[in-house]
Amino acid sequence: MCGIVGYWGRRNAGSILLQAIRNLEYRGYDSVGICTSNGEILAIRKDKGKVEEVNGRHSLHEMTGNIGIAHTRWATTGKVTKKNAHPHTDCTKSIAVVHNGIIENYERIRERLRAKGHAFQSETDTETIAHLLEENIHLGIGQAMISVAKELEGRNAFVALFGNEGVIAGVRKGSPLIVGVGGEEYFVASDIPAFLEHTKKVMYIDDGQMVVINNGIHFFDIDSQKSVEKRIVEIVLDMKQAEKGDYEHFLIKEIMEQKETLFRAINQDEDEIRKFAEEINQAFGVFFIGAGTAGRVGLMGEYIFSKIAKKHVNFVLASEFPSYEHFLTSKTLLIPISQSGETADVMKAVEVAKKKGVKVVSIINVKGSTLDRISDHSFLVNSGIEKSVASTKATTGQLAIVFLLAYACAGRLEEGKRLLIDTASEVNDMLNPRYEAHIKRLAKKIGRRDHIYIIGRGLNYPVALEAAIKITEVSCIHAEGFAGGELKHYSIALISDGVPCIAFVANDETMADMLNNAAEVKARGGYIIGVSPEKHEIFDYWLKVPDVGNTSPIVNIIPGQMLAYHLGLERGMDIDYCRNLAKSVTVL
Ligand code: F6R
Repeated sequence: MCGIVGYWGRRNAGSILLQAIRNLEYRGYDSVGICTSNGEILAIRKDKGKVEEVNGRHSLHEMTGNIGIAHTRWATTGKVTKKNAHPHTDCTKSIAVVHNGIIENYERIRERLRAKGHAFQSETDTETIAHLLEENIHLGIGQAMISVAKELEGRNAFVALFGNEGVIAGVRKGSPLIVGVGGEEYFVASDIPAFLEHTKKVMYIDDGQMVVINNGIHFFDIDSQKSVEKRIVEIVLDMKQAEKGDYEHFLIKEIMEQKETLFRAINQDEDEIRKFAEEINQAFGVFFIGAGTAGRVGLMGEYIFSKIAKKHVNFVLASEFPSYEHFLTSKTLLIPISQSGETADVMKAVEVAKKKGVKVVSIINVKGSTLDRISDHSFLVNSGIEKSVASTKATTGQLAIVFLLAYACAGRLEEGKRLLIDTASEVNDMLNPRYEAHIKRLAKKIGRRDHIYIIGRGLNYPVALEAAIKITEVSCIHAEGFAGGELKHYSIALISDGVPCIAFVANDETMADMLNNAAEVKARGGYIIGVSPEKHEIFDYWLKVPDVGNTSPIVNIIPGQMLAYHLGLERGMDIDYCRNLAKSVTVL
């Protein structure tokens, strides 16, 4: 959450930073700001709104100077106002700061600094960093950064620009920060896409470390204050993945990319899959964890392992996992699932598990992410950069890996892999313009409704929950998923004339019960949208899906994604930037 970036080099910082925050905009889009320096004075332009709006009003691209910092905000402390937009400065206006995270003890620090005469301009926690640096600058930049970093509580990353000295410095303490190394220039940013068009060479800053960039680059451990050696790593990422191409939105581009991303996810090292499956079989307690959509994949994992491997694994929401710490031993296995590999809830859960000696093997899309680096092993989903806030192609990729593991645990990896390859081919056929047009017609029919209910059973119960997530975040229609069997216990009270109810009716042991549940809804006036390989009389609208057997959750996820997209369009939503959300959730 929040995209932060710093540039130190010979070129015009304004236009480089502007492009960098465009590339980080998925991390937050409440307000933006840039500060550049020509070696003496700091120039700051910032405002409410998304990058293009603020650039339209303030011509950020025209800002001169060869060093600078920039920010795109997802508000935590302080309302969305121009004053609260980053960068923030100290009283002398020679130190500027951009920040990602939450400073838990900022009120205490602010009171102390106010008593010393510091004048605060904003409601943010970030501003305390600038004034604290001012207090400590007599120690020199390195020492000032270290003492400020030590004082801040919570998960944070920040980059400071010291105008008088022409120095940029960054601290990583719980939130991501990565260095990009160009010819005669350096970048320091929350995420690699910020600088990918300039360099593919990166240096990873570990948690509890900081970087200082002047004529060279120096890394330090914050606790020991000792300098740290880093090596340059060349990353393999194609910038085209981060562009929309001919598509109007990233969301539909990423939905369509599932034609091939699924094949990439299935293509795992079979020895590694078998080895880990053996560990799952031997473990005493296996937990999938994740948040939001990745969490729904974890819940699917419970059902998939039960059905295919006859093995009990648990799913716990990452944010709730700390309450389970008493069940953890060194024989427990933790399997975090995460697209970004940066989600704070997941990170905290992993910290809790590691303290108990638990082995952590993750399913991640972003290679080199914090989760990837702190896990004992990672299976990479290989979906490429996912930019739309709503996760799609990473989700089906994660699910494919969960299936591979379950089949491997059952000693049937070959069979599972063949089934997954067939399923991926079916997805390839499914994602055609005719299918999309059919879903678009449905979106026109139901796009003005206030509520949509979604039901599923067994493997497809978590699919119903996931469809509800997609529709809610992209279209802002209230969508809620239920287990088909739960309806009669309470939620059927919500059904009245014309209320849309999506029913996932798989060709499996749950079919008869699901059709009964759909009939119960229809009898109360509900409009039944059936997602199923076969057309059933009870459906008012039918979304056909291929009959793939056990892997039905993979094909069933797709109509939910596409319907969410078209409902979002119908309602004029900002498709790739869901209201109040951000792609990488680095706060608890
Ligand atoms: C919904 C969505 C979110 C994420 C969640 C976890 O479409 O994208 O619910 O799934 O924030 O993010 P990651 O997977 O990056 O840990």
